[in-house]
Amino acid sequence: MHSFHYNNGSLHCEGVDLQELAKQHGTPLYVYSQATIVDHFTRLDSALSEVDHLVCYATKANSNLAVLNLLAKRGAGFDIVSGGELFRIIQAGGDPSKCTFAGVGKARAEIQYALEQGIGCFNAESEAEVQRLNDIAGEMGKKAPVALRVNPNVDAKTHKYISTGKSDNKFGINFENIPDAYARAAELPNITLRGVQMHIGSQLTSVDPFVEAVKKVTPLVEDLKNNYGIEFFSIGGGIGIVYEDSLASNEPSWWSPDSASDEQATPITIEAYAEALVPLLKPLGLTIFLEPGRLIAGNAGVLLTEVLYEKKGSSKTFEIIDAGMNDLIRPALYQGHHDIVPVKEPTSAETTPVDIVGPVCESGDFFAQDRELPKLSEGDVIAVLSAGAYGFVMASNYNSRPFPAEILVDGTESHVIRKRQTYDDLIAGELIPGS
Ligand code: LLP
Repeated sequence: MHSFHYNNGSLHCEGVDLQELAKQHGTPLYVYSQATIVDHFTRLDSALSEVDHLVCYATKANSNLAVLNLLAKRGAGFDIVSGGELFRIIQAGGDPSKCTFAGVGKARAEIQYALEQGIGCFNAESEAEVQRLNDIAGEMGKKAPVALRVNPNVDAKTHKYISTGKSDNKFGINFENIPDAYARAAELPNITLRGVQMHIGSQLTSVDPFVEAVKKVTPLVEDLKNNYGIEFFSIGGGIGIVYEDSLASNEPSWWSPDSASDEQATPITIEAYAEALVPLLKPLGLTIFLEPGRLIAGNAGVLLTEVLYEKKGSSKTFEIIDAGMNDLIRPALYQGHHDIVPVKEPTSAETTPVDIVGPVCESGDFFAQDRELPKLSEGDVIAVLSAGAYGFVMASNYNSRPFPAEILVDGTESHVIRKRQTYDDLIAGELIPGS
């Protein structure tokens, strides 16, 4: 489901006119739909109802406190990867005992903080880490709850930067070494073995690699249950969303979101995912953890930005916008495609090829190249779609550009959930020696 539609000639998020939001709060501006976030979470949660499970939202996808709070209130657990994310979860009203702490490089201070806060489980990614967890827990007079992350050596068939389940990736412990690693961990006095975890990659566009990985790991999981009494199996995140042409149609208007729901073109629907995996997981008799990030937040957000200038090059037309790669880095980093639409509904079906580029001093600072778009003019506000996950969270202050504001829409109401950064914010914390 998505909640972005043209209404009276202007793109709306739920019941709120995005033109108005841009006018009121300025651009670049991230806008999220509460209804979409909640819908994705609750639908996934109910699709898994046949198995004991916990949806642990991958905090890294969109970690605004308001977003985390929406999910915490609905009973979500959280997949975290840093002490900072755990701090956010606690500030947002989340329960640390429903958090799993992933990541190949947990620092001593982060481990101590997580143990103090009663973390649900550490998903350990190496035997050296298990040893460190044991030592720190011992010093604190505690036991560290641990699951090992198994690297199943399955090809997720996604972009190489977001593929994590092959043996040449830095993630997890090799499938073959897992039995020995559990045996050694079980000997450690300050470790409680709680589960087993895997995550093969992100933005998967087919259920097949999930099925392949679960089938491959299932016998191992059964052994671990029998030998160590583990309680959960986390199958990670990775469900892909529609980025491209999801909303194209033959309607008179060149782009008509009302006529196409993103479900039709979603590479993996929630229902297809559950249908393929529940029968494989149910017989295990374990609690199944899921770690979706992009699925929950991706299509729930847009980045609004204004066209500053049009520049005709010798072979191209550039639309220069006020958002840059520092605000949304996915096109530059992963060649990620994001649909782009004018907020004012085009009245003609005519399009022209343009490059949508930002103001940052890098040639990689583009949002689209040779993209067929309706005629744009200076001052037009455009929406970069599917920017709710790995958007703001990956933003930087490069070129000393302040962070954009973030807005959460709920029906006909909108709430500022992060203020736009000021120039003073930009230099807060910097010191000139001797002054
Ligand atoms: N669990 C673990 C252990 C992960 O490493 C990740 C994502 C997730 C869950 C959530 O995956 P999701 O359901 O969102 O696919 N910045 C990249 C994506 C990086 C994903 C990193 N790990 C992008 O913009 O495409």
